[in-house]
Amino acid sequence: MGKPKTLEKNMFDLTGKKAVVTGAGRGIGKAVALGLANAGADIGLVSRSEPELNAVAELVKACGRQAVVAASDLTETSDIAPVVNRLARDLGGIDILVNNAGVNIPQDAVDVTEAAWDSVMAINLKAAFFMAQAVGKIMIDQGRGGRIINMTSQTGSVALIKRAAYCASKAGLNLVTKVLAMEWGPHEILVNAVAPTFVETEMTKDMLADPQFREYALAKNILKRFGTTDDVAGAVIYLSSPAANLVTGHVLMVDAGWTAH
Ligand SMILES: NC(=O)c1ccc[n+]([C@@H]2O[C@H](COP(=O)([O-])OP(=O)(O)OC[C@H]3O[C@@H](n4cnc5c(N)ncnc54)[C@H](OP(=O)(O)O)[C@@H]3O)[C@@H](O)[C@H]2O)c1
Repeated sequence: MGKPKTLEKNMFDLTGKKAVVTGAGRGIGKAVALGLANAGADIGLVSRSEPELNAVAELVKACGRQAVVAASDLTETSDIAPVVNRLARDLGGIDILVNNAGVNIPQDAVDVTEAAWDSVMAINLKAAFFMAQAVGKIMIDQGRGGRIINMTSQTGSVALIKRAAYCASKAGLNLVTKVLAMEWGPHEILVNAVAPTFVETEMTKDMLADPQFREYALAKNILKRFGTTDDVAGAVIYLSSPAANLVTGHVLMVDAGWTAH
């Protein structure tokens, strides 16, 4: 009998892998980019604000990894394939995509405008799908498998008031995740989602400043604390790594037990 693989190598090692992270300039995406870099991957960084991306790129380089910046508005669907192709060229292929860019516009259902609905869907669902499509084509052509990780939310599985469009976008992306897992499994492209509870970032800063909302946001949280961006990055590193070789079509709740009861 050969030596067990668990003794041969670090199962979370990403040395030599090429990863693209959207929404990488701050918050969860920044922690994901740095976590993947620290595990050994070179990183393509995408969002609209170039100064934020450049700052994260410096931190990636400090880990000894290559960083490539692509400032782009991913709701401009026709820009997606050119951006992805340039990142693949500069990085030397793409092995991991983390579809993390997203927005939330909390509004009572009676107040939601068509423009607000469309802008949430445009980045959270439509851009995530077309990023996956552009990267999926490259991964299929490369013939070396790959990982796609979609950042959804606990609200893709359970309802939250004032978030009709946001919940719909995340539930939609959870199911897109499963469709892509089925279609691309034969190419060894594993597609999963990470679904966090509330994490303190720019996105949640205003809502979590309200003591009443904080209380509500912890009510179903078994651990009685909000997530950190590192808590979420850990789940993404796992799903990107050889430790998750048999995991696909899964939504990994990183929700402090919110959906357990
Ligand atoms: N924070 C939470 O409690 C929480 C919980 C569950 C799920 N999530 C999800 O986690 C992801 C990251 O959230 P976060 O809290 O880290 O938010 P954040 O701090 O607001 O970061 C969002 C990122 O997405 C980028 N982005 C937004 N619109 C974009 C566009 N049109 N094109 C390209 N990039 C765009 C932003 O950069 P630019 O604005 O510079 O483009 C930024 O880098 C989101 O998908 C969010 O729904 C967050």
